[in-house]
Amino acid sequence: MSAVVIVGAQWGDEGKGKIVDFYTERADWVVRYGGGPNAGHTLVVGDEKIVVRLLPSGILREGTRCVLGQGMVIDPTVLLSEIDDLTRRGRHGIEQRLLVSDRAHLILPYHITIDCLRESKAAAANAIGTTKKGIGPTYEDKARRNGIRTGDLRDATRLRERIALAIEAWAPTILALGGEVPELDSIVEPLLKQAERILPLLTPVSQIVDKALKDGAHVLFEGAQGTLLDIDHGTYPFVTSSSAVSGGAAIGSGVGPNRLRNIVGITKAYCTRVGAGPFPTELNDAHGTHLREVGAEFGSVTGRPRRTGWLDLPALRYAARVNGFDGLAITKLDVLTGLDKLKVCVGYDTPTGRTEEFPIDDIEVPGRVTPVYQEMQGWKDSIANARRLESLPGPARAYLNFISEQTGVPLYLVSVGPKRDETVILHNPLV
Ligand code: GDP
Ligand code: IMO
Ligand code: MG
Repeated sequence: MSAVVIVGAQWGDEGKGKIVDFYTERADWVVRYGGGPNAGHTLVVGDEKIVVRLLPSGILREGTRCVLGQGMVIDPTVLLSEIDDLTRRGRHGIEQRLLVSDRAHLILPYHITIDCLRESKAAAANAIGTTKKGIGPTYEDKARRNGIRTGDLRDATRLRERIALAIEAWAPTILALGGEVPELDSIVEPLLKQAERILPLLTPVSQIVDKALKDGAHVLFEGAQGTLLDIDHGTYPFVTSSSAVSGGAAIGSGVGPNRLRNIVGITKAYCTRVGAGPFPTELNDAHGTHLREVGAEFGSVTGRPRRTGWLDLPALRYAARVNGFDGLAITKLDVLTGLDKLKVCVGYDTPTGRTEEFPIDDIEVPGRVTPVYQEMQGWKDSIANARRLESLPGPARAYLNFISEQTGVPLYLVSVGPKRDETVILHNPLV
């Protein structure tokens, strides 16, 4: 049995999709445990590129069962269109190997309306730069016990009553933001139609995953977003509304935390962030442009240009601590090729002295802390064909070793390109 958690170590988009798809060669189950269609996980198979948003990244492997856990927020329109899109692309039997928690919360059109209105009305300094997929308002409904769960689709009368209550509760907010309160029927009728396809997928996920683990299956828990976007451990308030860290895997799927055996942190060889919020190692120069252009750093969901910067080791150590990383997968090392010198943040100067800790509550205040960099040698030759650590140029190996040493976390994998085989494996946790 193995229960491996894949979690983003930074601000999302670390390449979790590629790594989950890669590891799924050996996995029987892939379980998404949090977030919703704010995620965009890219899978590149041969010449084909697929971006999944709600569907787990194991969905392309026909022998793998895919699960949407109860920690997720599910937009039924996105879910059905993703299934239909993959079917059109010749991937059949998706619904036969997809299971959806009957306790996950539904993103309904009013959640999206509120998310969009808030973002457009917020003063520039307060806008979070959300993906406008209704994530925040749906988790708010969950926390204020006004949410609609997938299981509510089983009873049309109760569903109607609960949606009426939710609309009533949101109406003053919608009106204050200059929006229009939706008619009950305009929400309920299309949802009941979608329910015909969603009801057969509903499952008590906790039981199913627990049984799979007891039967000795290999289960991958696929994180979405990243540690620094986590509602508790991220750069609050510039975060998402769910538990992106490894602990979220237990809560969001309903398995005990002691069942999770191996936590793999995914980090880029540099940093990116999409949306607003502090980013101490951000680069607004030619190096930043190199990372954006060579790394094709444009949002998979929104197409927004991603902000780019040097790798932040204090932030990575912080992520290693709050997640309990057993191993690191470093992606996009190839993107650094061609830079003469690399910089990596090794600490911070703060008003009380130099620290190796990530000063998460101070980075928000401009000028309060300054990153301290160490310069390292770059490399010129392409590394896209490297499949073994020994084939990488010396400076690239030195860079990787430095990251592992500085974080105290062993390297499991290095990714040198978006395709499945563009991967150097040092240790596979799925054994
Ligand atoms: P996720 O949200 O963590 O799954 O990451 P995204 O899919 O949003 O963004 C990662 C992007 O980097 C995608 O376009 C991937 O195809 C691409 N990618 C992943 N690993 C590598 C790599 O090692 N090298 C390069 N050049 N691209 C990569
Ligand atoms: P994956 O799984 C990168 C960011 C948004 C915004 C903040 C809040 O692909 O790594 P939200 O819509 O969640 O309320 O937005 O979080 N964000 C992501 N950034 N990758 C993601 O997912 C993200 N999901 C949310 O840009 O800053
Ligand atoms: Mg992404």
